Amino acid sequence: MGNLSVAVTGANSSVGTVLLTRLLSQGNIRVVAGVRSTKAREGLPRSPRLTPVIIGYDRPESLTAALRDVDCVVHLAGVLFESKTSDYQTANVGTTRALVAAAQATGVSQVVFISSLGADPDSTNAYFRSKGEAEQVVSAASLDATIIRTPLLLGPDTSGGRALCRTASQSSVRVLGGGAHRLRPLDVDDLCHGICACTQRPVPGVRTLELVGPTTLTYRELLEQMAGLQGRELTVGSTPVWLARLGARLVGLTRTGGMTPTVIDVITSDEMVAHNADADLGITLTPLSDTLAKLKDHDS
Ligand SMILES: NC(=O)c1ccc[n+]([C@@H]2O[C@H](COP(=O)([O-])OP(=O)(O)OC[C@H]3O[C@@H](n4cnc5c(N)ncnc54)[C@H](OP(=O)(O)O)[C@@H]3O)[C@@H](O)[C@H]2O)c1
Repeated sequence: MGNLSVAVTGANSSVGTVLLTRLLSQGNIRVVAGVRSTKAREGLPRSPRLTPVIIGYDRPESLTAALRDVDCVVHLAGVLFESKTSDYQTANVGTTRALVAAAQATGVSQVVFISSLGADPDSTNAYFRSKGEAEQVVSAASLDATIIRTPLLLGPDTSGGRALCRTASQSSVRVLGGGAHRLRPLDVDDLCHGICACTQRPVPGVRTLELVGPTTLTYRELLEQMAGLQGRELTVGSTPVWLARLGARLVGLTRTGGMTPTVIDVITSDEMVAHNADADLGITLTPLSDTLAKLKDHDS
């Protein structure tokens, strides 16, 4: 295969960090790494095959310049936790709209968009709704596109991976709803393997895939497994979800973002899929025990 040029937005994100390393390990790929600040740019890996660029989603010319001569763009920029400067419409929908417009203007042939399980433009949950609206933007463009809906991502730097290590290292914790919600945690390395496969083997048209990990378990079971691996005894108690929502609503009267009722509903949703896309992407999923062992090794 000849040389391929892949642009990544949100290149400094937890997924982006792993993805850049994987893309650069393929001899035939040139990477354009898009970030929003000089600070983020300084944290990017150095490689003769990586071009760091500062992009602004309100500066279309910065996007078209970044995408010039690019074959595929992977759109990672997005948030679950809103802040004063980053809400769902701006971060999840607005960035996608701007990126897709730039991809069309520059003749990029393929987009890979990282979405979320539960994405739905009609959802009553603002996060799921924004991811659903972003998916619609991608689907409506005249581009080949792969939308990958993902569950909780586990890696040393993902917010879920860090929270899991932190929580499992206590002797006693209270978790939302007793951690009874069912998860399909995905190793971030597997997601990046899947993204890489998309960049190398484009498929015409638009496809929406759901990619989840190999094991279904409750959050409580996940915590207990992690604590067991750390050689700890963990007592898991429960904070009722309704109470957490009420508390979050009250805190939200004086603060923007953070642990809002919307986030609480997202992180306590069951992660179920009808069809796992691992075989479609040609990847082998990492056993959950190996993913947790990687987290433990990084943490110790
Ligand atoms: N982590 C998970 O478990 C999970 C699960 C499902 C889906 N996803 C999706 O996967 C993607 C990557 O997730 P992640 O956890 O790796 O992300 P992350 O580490 O939280 O990084 C977020 C990225 O989005 C950028 N960003 C934030 N607000 C923005 C805005 N208003 N405009 C443009 N860019 C903005 C950040 O740039 P700055 O550093 O400049 O702020 C950063 O590059 C996201 O789209 C996320 O929704 C993640």
